[in-house]
Amino acid sequence: MSEQLSDLYRDIIMEHYRFPRGKIPIAAPDITREGQNPACGDEIEIKVKMDGDKVRDISVDCIGCAISIASGSMLADMIRGKTLAEAKKIARIVKALLKGEEVNEDIELGDLDALRGVNKFPVRIKCAMLSWTTLVDAIEAEETGGINDVSTTE
Ligand code: FES
Repeated sequence: MSEQLSDLYRDIIMEHYRFPRGKIPIAAPDITREGQNPACGDEIEIKVKMDGDKVRDISVDCIGCAISIASGSMLADMIRGKTLAEAKKIARIVKALLKGEEVNEDIELGDLDALRGVNKFPVRIKCAMLSWTTLVDAIEAEETGGINDVSTTE
């Protein structure tokens, strides 16, 4: 990765950190889940409002570092209008990006592409995964009729 590209990734992440999407709380959410990064104790709460089988709105309330907040903001941007199955697929792609794997999915990554840069900082991968792990756990609890407990990054 060129230095210029690294700067671009950093600028995208910082823009999401400063102006996080999904900051406005949702009234009467259909799905709610809390998550925590046990490495630092930072926390997140995700609320999802559905419209049929698609996400109408999502709020991401994150008390964490710049990368966790930025990643949660990107999540809010990406997930609106998607089905829960599509949301899980995007979460799998984000995980692959963070591991530095090639992504061959037919999807427009948009700002998510900036998360590739986090791969250079392994200690930060859990930060970037916090919102996505919480979302996937929330969806799977919903699908299985389970209880929406607290998620932790692996
Ligand atoms: Fe806590 Fe990043 S340092 S989530």
